[in-house]
Amino acid sequence: MTTKTSNVLQTLAELGVSGDAQVPPLFAELRAEFDRDAAAVNDEALWKEFRDAWLGRKSGVLAHITDNWLKPAPPELKRAVGQALNELRAHVEAVVEARRAAVEASAEREATARERVDLSLPGVRRPIGTHHLIQQTFQEIARIFLSLGYTVVEGPEIETPYYNFEALNIPEHHPARDTMDTFYLDLPAGAPPRLLRTHTSPMQIHVMESQQPPVRIIVPGRVYRRDNPDSTHAFAFHQIEGLAVDTDITFCDFKGTVEYFVSQFFGPQVKTRLRSSYFPFTEPSTEVDASCHVCGGSGCRVCKFSGWIELFGAGMVDPAVYGFVNYDAKQLSGFAFGMGVERFAMRKYGISDIQLFFQNDVRFLRQFP
Ligand code: PHE
Repeated sequence: MTTKTSNVLQTLAELGVSGDAQVPPLFAELRAEFDRDAAAVNDEALWKEFRDAWLGRKSGVLAHITDNWLKPAPPELKRAVGQALNELRAHVEAVVEARRAAVEASAEREATARERVDLSLPGVRRPIGTHHLIQQTFQEIARIFLSLGYTVVEGPEIETPYYNFEALNIPEHHPARDTMDTFYLDLPAGAPPRLLRTHTSPMQIHVMESQQPPVRIIVPGRVYRRDNPDSTHAFAFHQIEGLAVDTDITFCDFKGTVEYFVSQFFGPQVKTRLRSSYFPFTEPSTEVDASCHVCGGSGCRVCKFSGWIELFGAGMVDPAVYGFVNYDAKQLSGFAFGMGVERFAMRKYGISDIQLFFQNDVRFLRQFP
């Protein structure tokens, strides 16, 4: 924007103005031009050009008027020109300032509109993971034993034969070692042997070595066996060991605990049965069976028409074990159990293939939110 008013570069004499009466129309024309300019100012850059064009100290229109019209004016015109110039200046300054405020306000409105955040828009939902079914099942089991005063402890997956076998009353060449095909670590010649624990029972020994009775613990953990994977076998799976030792624990306490646990976990309609079994570290040893959750005990394919389903191994702690941990076998008694976590989850949720736990296909995992 530049002023089209070339006449401000000329003197009044050059413009042929000689009388008072010629002054007002001259200014009126300028003022109209100024108002047209002002109306076109709609952003900051234009406003600066506009301001400089009219108010610039050296070459603004008002400066030219002062230099070319006012200063050289003959005395008889000075008054009229001075007065008209003052009026024009007041008008120009007021409008320039008003346009500045308007341009600023509209720039701010635009920025606000541009940066506006719509708080009513729905947020981005991030998928939240869940605990793996193994972990959920462990937590369900642990909750029941915690309510009975048990505490949770954990221990190493790499063990010595002493803890995994000897101290559990399974000496070398004992046939029970064969039933747990064991992974031994490949160590430099001469190094003491190490193995992947085949059950969580070694933690019975660790706990009794490090604390005095009463003992009430459960031990969740991963165990390893050289089994060929199929729908009921995996070379790594999970167990929960349980151990209670005190001065007056009876077989009745054991049975009551087992029945309470099973009815809490599977529901009150599920009955338990103890079946004689054998483990070197318990005497007597039992297998805990539950009435079939599918047929209720009348017999079906799931329970192989027996009405019962095998749940876990357990028994009263064999006094020989106390000898390995310096517990007084004459004063103390207790029971132990070892549950397969996958087996429990399979029973409870009707899962037919143990491999599903390890494949971690989200289509499977999502079914257990
Ligand atoms: N450790 C045994 C197994 O893995 C289970 C068990 C634990 C049995 C404790 C009796 C007492 O088969």
